[in-house]
Amino acid sequence: MQTALANDVDGIVGECGGAMMCATCHCYVDEAWTDRTGPRHEREDDMLEGAASEVTAASRLSCQIRLTPDLDGLVVHLPDEQF
Ligand code: FES
Repeated sequence: MQTALANDVDGIVGECGGAMMCATCHCYVDEAWTDRTGPRHEREDDMLEGAASEVTAASRLSCQIRLTPDLDGLVVHLPDEQF
């Protein structure tokens, strides 16, 4: 989420600043990358219940994806809306 905001990625809002309180950083991790980003946390599941767009198995709160060198080139898809 912070990297997306710093690079003006349209469609990531991050209203709560990464405190896992808003779900406006919802993204869909591309299938090719899900094993590297790992599973979402139980608290993410709770927050994603309030997401504005459909939640799928690929859904993550982007603020909870810790970027590491392993994730260089990570592909995520964005929902139609965040509110
Ligand atoms: S920025 Fe609010 S939950 Fe990720």
